Amino acid sequence: MALKRFIATALPEIENELQTQIARLDHARLNLFHEMLTYHMGWTGAGAGAEATGKRIRPILVLLAVASCGADWQIGLPAAAAVELLHNFSLVHDDVQDNSDKRRNRSTVWKKWGVPMAINVGDALFVLANQAVLDLEKALPAATVARAASILNEACLDLTRGQYLDMSYEERFDLKIEDYWPMIGGKTSALLAACTQMGALIGGADEPTQQNYRQFGHHLGLAFQVQDDLLGIWGDEKITGKSAASDLTEGKNSLPVLFALEKNAEFAKRWRQGPIGAEEVGEIAAVLEREGARTFALEASQKETDKALGFLEQAQPAGAAGEALLELAKMLLKREQ
Ligand code: IPE
Ligand code: IPE
Ligand code: MG
Ligand code: MG
Repeated sequence: MALKRFIATALPEIENELQTQIARLDHARLNLFHEMLTYHMGWTGAGAGAEATGKRIRPILVLLAVASCGADWQIGLPAAAAVELLHNFSLVHDDVQDNSDKRRNRSTVWKKWGVPMAINVGDALFVLANQAVLDLEKALPAATVARAASILNEACLDLTRGQYLDMSYEERFDLKIEDYWPMIGGKTSALLAACTQMGALIGGADEPTQQNYRQFGHHLGLAFQVQDDLLGIWGDEKITGKSAASDLTEGKNSLPVLFALEKNAEFAKRWRQGPIGAEEVGEIAAVLEREGARTFALEASQKETDKALGFLEQAQPAGAAGEALLELAKMLLKREQ
């Protein structure tokens, strides 16, 4: 309930801040470029609207962290916009890297306008994220703004490390479950950890509390990516808005796959024989499930959520925002989108 109420109040302001940041590229002669950005953000083009914007979990995390440290969440809006812009930069490039046609139930930017344009759209979102965070200076001292910018940049560097591992793993057959955690720690958790840490920083928390918030975001991010892996195989395409087959056809070493490879039974044998065809995906998913890969990943996601909740408790988040953070963590574990 606290979460629903917070989202209803904060989301319009998040969208507004994002639009203000992206308006930096709204000029005559750049109409199509601006349209590519607003299309990806979910505001324009066929299918625009709430479903096309994505969940906006990262900016909500930033603002809830600010508020749960006892500060006014509105001062965090530039940081909230920054993390969402950075996330969207990573998605535009990730869809090129993963050869994904669909995101949020719509054609991806590269599918619509080609890879060179998608690279440029991603670059723009990356720079806009770095510009947005500097707008914190309206309400905060320069040293805090510099610290926030540094947290954002570190997260971005970690994200590229994780994406490197993710892509380099595609041609590998010797991977173990232990190789998985540094990969998702980079590509997904780093940004979620930055969200909660930045929120605590902006909210005026002391260093140990900031670290508890950071660890909360980190473990939440691990649980979130395991859940994404589950949805990437067993999810409903209409709800996730992404192709349910592509993690298997693209040869992604997701957690269920690594579990089954270690088991070295029927799935492992088939996986080593070469690319899975789209027509086989249903059958292979059933084999994975029979071998216990789905249950293993579900339990891993639960474990990481429990760790996240432990750090949240130590952070002692205050008031309705604290309650909302707890609700959000529990909700993400059950998400279908
Ligand atoms: C997708 O993130 C990419 C991952 C890190 C798993 P989200 O599931 O948060 O994507 P949107 O923004 O809601 O579409
Ligand atoms: C998630 O990558 C992390 C980033 C986009 C950086 P994935 O490739 O696992 O996520 P989806 O499933 O395409 O959203
Ligand atoms: Mg990827
Ligand atoms: Mg992808």
